[in-house]
Formats: sequence, C-alpha cells, structure tokens
Amino acid sequence: MREYEYKITAAGRVNVIGEHIDYCGGKVFPAALSLKNTVYIRPNGTDKINLSWTTLPDKVTIDINCLDGYKNLKYGNYQAGAAWALQKAGYKVTGCDMLQDCTVPFGSGLSSSAAIEVSTVAALAVIGGEKISNKEIALLAQRAERGYAGVNCGIMDQYASANGKKGCAMLLDCKSVTHEYVPFGLGDYSLVIINCNKPHNLVESKYNERREETELALRTLQTVIPVSCLADVTEEQFAEYGRMLEGKVYFRCKHVVDECSRVNMAVQAMKRGDVLTLGKLLNASHKSLRELYEVTGKELDALAEAAQRHWACIGSRMTGAGFGGCTISLVKKDGADDFKRAVSEEYARKTGYCCSIYDAEISDGITVTEL
Ligand code: GLA
Repeated sequence: MREYEYKITAAGRVNVIGEHIDYCGGKVFPAALSLKNTVYIRPNGTDKINLSWTTLPDKVTIDINCLDGYKNLKYGNYQAGAAWALQKAGYKVTGCDMLQDCTVPFGSGLSSSAAIEVSTVAALAVIGGEKISNKEIALLAQRAERGYAGVNCGIMDQYASANGKKGCAMLLDCKSVTHEYVPFGLGDYSLVIINCNKPHNLVESKYNERREETELALRTLQTVIPVSCLADVTEEQFAEYGRMLEGKVYFRCKHVVDECSRVNMAVQAMKRGDVLTLGKLLNASHKSLRELYEVTGKELDALAEAAQRHWACIGSRMTGAGFGGCTISLVKKDGADDFKRAVSEEYARKTGYCCSIYDAEISDGITVTEL
C-alpha cells in the first residue's frame, strides 16, 4: 500500500456491561477490539472522494460540494456521512482516494459502522491538516450516524472505537463524555464473542422507539425529582416514584436504573479481580435486557442460555443494540474448546442458525501511521 500516504485505523467494540444506558447519560463499560476498519488515504487534488474497498468490487465517487446527497448509497454512505459531519462542523474536507478494509463483521453488533465513521473522520482530518482530539472525532462520527444513517445512537460505540486501549476496558461516563481505563485481566478466563448470525431487522426503528420510551420516563420523573438524565435516578427514587410510569415505560426505566448499578458493581469487581462476580452481573444484564428492555429476541436468548448452561462459562449476555448480533461469554480457558463446540451445536439445534465465533483481542482505538 505504499502509494497511499497514511494508514488510519479505528476499532470495532464490545460492550462488557452497561447496555442501552449511554443515551440515558449512564456509565458504560466497553472495550475496543482488534477487529477494525483501516483507511488507506492520499489527497488527489480534486473535489472528489474516490472510495474503494479491499473486499468489494464497487468503486464510489463522492463530490465534497454536495455531501448531503449520498444517504442512500449501498456502500459508501458511512464514509459520506463522516465527511458530511466533518464539513458541517466547519472543518476542511479534502478530495482524496481512500481504500477501505473492514474486518469488523457487518451487522454483528460489534460497531462496524462506528469503526468506519471514526476511521474516515480521522483520516480526512489528517490529510486536511485538522488537529481534532479523539473525543471530538467520536462526537463527529456520532453526528454522522445520527444525521446520516438515521440511528439516534448514544456515544458509546464511536467513543470506544476512537479511544480504546490495548488490554483495557473503559468506564465511559456518557454524561460528561470522559473515561477511565480499567485493565481487563480475566486470569483463567477468556472473553468469547459469538455472533448469532440472525439478520438484523428493524433495528433502527426499535432502537429509536426505546429511546423515546426512556425520554418519556425522564420527562415524567422530572416532574417530581430534579434529575437531568435517567441514569441519575437512584434506586431509592425509582422505588418511590417509579409507579408514576405506565406499562412498558416502567420496565424500560427499571432496566436503566438497575443496569447503572450493575456497571458500578462490575467495575469494582474488575478492579479487585473478581471475575465470578462480573460473570453473575453479565447474566443479570441479559435477563434484564430480555425481560424488561425487550431487545434480545429468540436467537440471542438461545445463544446466551446455551452459554450460561455450559460448565466452563461463568456469565454470558448480549452485547450492543440487540435484536441480533453478538453475545459475550466469560469462559474458563481450559474449557473454551468444549464450550465453543457445545454452544454452537445447541444453538444450531434450537434455532437453525449457525453461529460464528470470533478470535478478537482488546486493542487500541484510533491509530495513524504515515506510509
Ligand atoms: C448501539 C448504539 C449505542 C448504544 C448501544 C446499546 O450500539 O450505537 O449508542 O446505545 O446500541 O447499549
């Protein structure tokens, strides 16, 4: 790839715990993965961004003078969205050739879209001579996802993709948008990521619906308690005022309040090397996402249950938005092979889908290399 000037990467992510609370101002606990999107880039002296892919025959050209017009591209819409967000924020967008190489499986719930948006924003910033912090890059990438891809997402994916650190998960405070790294040492255990391979359906609309439900819960509770976000509602306040919420909105809010506590407990457990407690919290998180937040579905439930039943597994849950995508499991290293075989078989028998198991490590966020 010598003819390109820079190689920029950004990571896919797993969320260890803290699901569907980033957009409620909660603290979440994600980590960047070695599965990533790589952008090879060089300026081309024109007003056009020429996109190509290592894994696709397609070539797409984007005019930087009308970046609004590419929302419906089959391939290239995330890159166009990244350029659009950068330009809208007043940064320079320069014509260039970009080769994209994505190893984050699409639709897996491991944030391939965030990896693409973050790496593309970072790459365009480098050749445009713009000095932008990783936090700001994450915020721009989030704007691309919201304004261009139409998902009213929180900040977790883009932030983890940009700021990840090898060997560490991060406790990300989504209210202040700041983070603290926590070494992710699992001792005799490993983190196994399994894709249920069920095609995502209606993820965007169901996701946006959950957001609306949490916003309704917040507006209701704000009439009696002075909170600026749902994650600030304490368990005691919820016990006292939760009954003001009707039907599903009550259950959504209960998930948010409980999941916030689980994140705190998980980080404390991690800091004292108590992997067994972390495992129990993963199981409790999955149960809450299934019963209260209703974002799991038959396949993710079958996968998590098969994992939870295996002797070598101390905890398993869905990760990401849900409705498909991946589970993560904490598995004793010397039982990992048997775990993978047994869970794959049981899952296929129950659902008819074959799952995929990924070998990924916890890795760095954005990297920039001059070629
Ligand atoms: C998606 C969104 C994130 C977050 C998760 C659920 O990945 O992009 O912002 O809300 O779902 O935790």
